[in-house]
Amino acid sequence: MTDTAIATAFAWEALDSRGKPTVACEITLRDGSTGQVTVPSGASTGRHEARELRDGGLRYDGNGVRDAVGNVNTVLAESVRGIDSLDQPQVDAALRAADGSDDLGRLGANAVLAVSIGTAIAAAAAQHLPLYRTVDDTGRAPLLPLPMVNILSGGAHAGRSIDIQDFLVVPMSATSFSDAIEICSRVRRGATQVLAERDLPVALVADEGGLGPILPSNRSALDVMVAAIERAGFTPGADAAIAIDVAATQFHTAGDYVLAAENGRRLTSTELIDELVAWSGDYPIVSLEDALAEDDWHGWALATARLGGVQLLGDDLFVTNERRLRRGVADGVANAVLVKPNQIGTLTDARSVVAIAHAAGYRTVLSARSGETEDSWLADLAIGWRTGQIKVGSTMRSERTAKWNRLLRLEAELGDSAEYAGAAAITTAPHPVVSAL
Ligand code: PGA
Ligand code: ZN
Repeated sequence: MTDTAIATAFAWEALDSRGKPTVACEITLRDGSTGQVTVPSGASTGRHEARELRDGGLRYDGNGVRDAVGNVNTVLAESVRGIDSLDQPQVDAALRAADGSDDLGRLGANAVLAVSIGTAIAAAAAQHLPLYRTVDDTGRAPLLPLPMVNILSGGAHAGRSIDIQDFLVVPMSATSFSDAIEICSRVRRGATQVLAERDLPVALVADEGGLGPILPSNRSALDVMVAAIERAGFTPGADAAIAIDVAATQFHTAGDYVLAAENGRRLTSTELIDELVAWSGDYPIVSLEDALAEDDWHGWALATARLGGVQLLGDDLFVTNERRLRRGVADGVANAVLVKPNQIGTLTDARSVVAIAHAAGYRTVLSARSGETEDSWLADLAIGWRTGQIKVGSTMRSERTAKWNRLLRLEAELGDSAEYAGAAAITTAPHPVVSAL
């Protein structure tokens, strides 16, 4: 047995940024190296995601994770003991085998992810290397991602004040990661000023640190975005563009898309696409996430045909799942995939989704969840896997800035030895790399 073999896994119940219980875990290797992780959790979760284990009962309204914690401390710890932490695929295969179910719902995807990520962090510590380097299997220069930053929220992240879930800013003119973050931070400030002038509440901060105003319509959020960009002193489109996470699954009922914030206006897939086409003509929109619902493959194909000039990003659609992404590629659906490690449950599976996407010429956006933690490993994954883009919420609140600050540090440290992905990451598709398949 090597010194980098896993000795113990020790888990406990911690809290996420929404104050909900989540699984924290420390992996210790035989040489004494450790890796600590606290896993995130979504609110607008897709039906096809890996399944978190929640206790039910009275504690935390049923959201306790003591069973998941117990599973780490017993069966999952046992399943990985003695495996070399440097062999992440073997560790993750052992975790999958221990669970035995497709969606990891038996022992809990939250329990499995904690051991998977904790192992990667411990392995980096054992090698005295930063995580972005130990997860890098591309052999290329580290790539700092283009950020997309949450400015306004509705939907499941802000009491459904509007139906569309998130309006984000994309810094187009920045030539470095730190300049990009400055643009986003200034637009966030601009949004606060614009809302305050319109007597709209600015004290209501949404789950990802964006603002959660009550607006008369979904479209009016786009007017606020443009005004916020201008207020910050930037030119909409040229300096700062708009990304939308429609999260359409959330308002898809009985085959229709129902806009509760607009007096229950009902739209078919085609009418929702018409609306998005109109918005894209009127506003500088560069990315549309979950434009249609998770199982509306037909609508998605229509959307791709009509809106393929912008980034069409599948979140609930693909759920970081290789099978669903391959179906999308085969059917010509979407052109980008959102990657959330906890949607699939292991680091190895998330990594292979990134590789498959790049091989197919799809863009990748690594993403945090609305329920986050103080961890920063997501930043290292974005750099090491060269995802090109990252989304972690606002430029405020520590669970968000933990990731930005890690990227800012790495930019400062790496200097010219790192590349910055820039706006090209969102405007041009990656060249398919067939060898990655
Ligand atoms: P979630 O939101 O973490 O609540 O799913 C993030 C997103 O939809 O992209
Ligand atoms: Zn989403």
